[in-house]
Amino acid sequence: MAITAFPEQFRWGAATAAHQYEGFTKNQWSRWEAQGHIKSGDSSGAACNWWNIAEEDFQRAKDLHLNALRISLEWSRIEPIQGQWDDAALRRYRSMLEALRNLQIEPLVTLHHFTHPIWFEDMGGFLSPKATEYFERYVTKAVETLGDLCDFWITMNEPNVYAVFGYLIGDFPPGRQGDIRSTLLAQAGMARAHAAAYRAIHRIQPSAKVSWAQHINIFDPANQSSPLDRWSSRQQDLSFNGFFLRAIETGSAEWYIRPFVGDMSMVKQTADYIGLNIYARNTVRFNLSSAGELFGKRETPAGAPLGDPGISANYGEIYPQGILRAAQRVARFRLPIYITENGVADRADRLRPWVIAQAVCAMHDALEEGIDLRGYYHWSLVDNFEWAEGWTMRFGLYALDTETQGRTLRPSGELYAEIARMNGYDEKIHGIARHKM
Ligand code: BGC
Repeated sequence: MAITAFPEQFRWGAATAAHQYEGFTKNQWSRWEAQGHIKSGDSSGAACNWWNIAEEDFQRAKDLHLNALRISLEWSRIEPIQGQWDDAALRRYRSMLEALRNLQIEPLVTLHHFTHPIWFEDMGGFLSPKATEYFERYVTKAVETLGDLCDFWITMNEPNVYAVFGYLIGDFPPGRQGDIRSTLLAQAGMARAHAAAYRAIHRIQPSAKVSWAQHINIFDPANQSSPLDRWSSRQQDLSFNGFFLRAIETGSAEWYIRPFVGDMSMVKQTADYIGLNIYARNTVRFNLSSAGELFGKRETPAGAPLGDPGISANYGEIYPQGILRAAQRVARFRLPIYITENGVADRADRLRPWVIAQAVCAMHDALEEGIDLRGYYHWSLVDNFEWAEGWTMRFGLYALDTETQGRTLRPSGELYAEIARMNGYDEKIHGIARHKM
């Protein structure tokens, strides 16, 4: 009997996304890559070749005893030209979902994971007044065609990351920097499109489970006893983590952004569960010269565990304990919670076993507190194309050789397989002591 035993129905999964896995997609990100914006100079290319051989990796997930897999649909394949559906693409997604069903792996399907057709980007993406209508139409088509194989959906992946990197930092297309207004409007546009998709899915599948995936970065004051540090870390939290949570809970935005973002009342209570993507923590120090960042300077505490560096990015302190804190935070929604992503960039697998063990302990603590946590999707199954960092950052339970397409299971993959098989964790067997939360 495992010391930390999990409920019988618990989902042990891995998370993936279309552009990062399928290969040769034609969307706003492939154009961005072709324009030379990837810091490593890489492009996604064949990626993990899933358009041809996803089933081989589904079998690998099965070999790891996983009972769940998160994949995404590539809108630009399904509707490459506005209003024209590609039936062959939809058939390919059907065959992928059928393969998962045959392996008794439950699919969780994301409808927008950072990418969309170029025609949609060129009309302004989620800033366009037409965004909701077009997104809803695509979602309706996808769910009508695939709904007999899947009833578990994520409308949008990480609207906060999409908006901040696309309109404030500029690492993602459309590459705008410092455009605070568009950062807010993009999130508001995604929230309204999410709400329309939520209702459209429920019209087709009344019993569907629908939500979005919320990225939560933990912000703590650099100095707990400094009121200014506490204030600025709270501002970082509200502006980065808080937007969608608040919209779902109340159908509105913070009072000071309400005048910019328009009516959000339709967003209220459009979630059947909460999906959390948890990776990192930053400490925040009040700094008068960081006005553009709400007077907070983000830091990584000395000695904190760090993943592999990207070309210029520091993803912050790797903080699997954040799973418990984030789950506590959203428990008030009284909805089931899934950890829809958690992982670390770690080519040599020096940290990933520890991350997985701590994540499992954090989830067990949450369950002991009575929190309704239903599943964990490790990011990622195979090394993925990591957006602006290209192939420099490796997140896979399986290492990928991009030249040969060969896969090699990392030791952390063996550990995770054992946890999934036992449906629990025992530090005596697995040899990694739990971290004090
Ligand atoms: C995204 C993934 C990404 C992962 C690792 C998440 O923010 O949803 O697409 O690869 O983090 O950085």
